Amino acid sequence: MRLLIKNIQTLAGIVPADKLRLCGAEMGAAATIDGAYLVAEDGVIADFGPMAQLPAELVADTEIDAQGRVVYPAFCDSHSHIVYAGSREGEFRDKIAGMTYEEVAARGGGILNSADRLAEATEQELYEAASRRAWRMVRSGAATIEIKSGYGLTTESELKMLRVIKRLAQELPITVKATFLGAHAVGRAFKGRQEEYVDHVCGEMIPAVAAEGLAEFVDVFCDRGFFTPEQTAKILECGKRYGLRPKIHANELASSGGVQVGIAYGALSVDHLEEATEQDVADLAASDTIPTVLPGASFFSNLPFAPARMMIDKGLSVAIASDCNPGSSPSGNMQLLWSLGCIKMRLTPEEALSALTINGAAALGLSADRGAISCGRRADLVISKPVPSLAYIPYSFGEDLVERVIVKGKTIYYNE
Ligand code: NIG
Ligand code: FE
Repeated sequence: MRLLIKNIQTLAGIVPADKLRLCGAEMGAAATIDGAYLVAEDGVIADFGPMAQLPAELVADTEIDAQGRVVYPAFCDSHSHIVYAGSREGEFRDKIAGMTYEEVAARGGGILNSADRLAEATEQELYEAASRRAWRMVRSGAATIEIKSGYGLTTESELKMLRVIKRLAQELPITVKATFLGAHAVGRAFKGRQEEYVDHVCGEMIPAVAAEGLAEFVDVFCDRGFFTPEQTAKILECGKRYGLRPKIHANELASSGGVQVGIAYGALSVDHLEEATEQDVADLAASDTIPTVLPGASFFSNLPFAPARMMIDKGLSVAIASDCNPGSSPSGNMQLLWSLGCIKMRLTPEEALSALTINGAAALGLSADRGAISCGRRADLVISKPVPSLAYIPYSFGEDLVERVIVKGKTIYYNE
């Protein structure tokens, strides 16, 4: 099957095939071609270039005219929590009235609130709600989504969440990756017995998750008031024995050692980083761990924005992800994240695009085969609606500018 997209106003996100992430200044310098064509063969990018070089004899099964449109790699969202039950707009009111995230959590709300609702929901209900959320993300340009457990907090409910994620992976036309986040908060049954909960995560949950092959990654909410770096180390160590690679929540509420424990255990990414210090950034610069920033969480929760500008200026490979969850970031709109990356973190449109595509793919260990335009990578693409230029997309924040989402060379979503 051959797909030809021709007359592309701007083809963006062109990266050499052997480059697995973009660091620092490279993030703003991914190549673009104005007036381009792209050919995909059997779902893989086979050729692209300026229209003048389009082989005259080329015959395609499907031809798309992208006149006036920008084509870019589909977004890779490397951090989300879209399997959940109910919603938390009551806490939204409390936060408007002045309560902090930590105060809401301390009175038994927050993650525990979602865990109570999840315990009552059936797998089918969770599947349907999460599938609707995933499709909303697809409509904003995502073709790869990581989803975490962490609203179960009992072995049974964590497994329930992960089975839902597995079904999403099997039934949606996009790629879904699963992360076990049993240490998201201390389950109610273990109230006041945090160490015992950590032992339970290691002794019972991780072996059960591994036995069913339900997760590829292990995550811990390593932050003030949640899990300590020592507890995190214990869980990552155990995860490692079961083949789970670490990706962790760190420095959302305080610089509390999460970055360093993540690096020490070879985490693919450390995520949040709203409170990252210069030392944290220097430690990341000396490691392979990707800093993933979550501007939707900062925006919705009124937290500081992670210092992504400084990280890029220091040469880091920053990724941007949605963190879509019912408590701190209920939106999975990837185009809005592109805007927030530019507006609130001062990334250029090109830098923010790299953060949402190739570096997001790298934060999932998937960037060898997706996240950029190069021959041999998957033809997972977005075609915009007619726009004056690439920068217009994040500039026109809140406007829906995705016309088509293509996965492995096939259109999975078209918006007339
Ligand atoms: O990434 N910070 C920890 N976990 C989620 C929020 C979870 C919730 O409040 O439900 C986050 O922001
Ligand atoms: Fe999160």
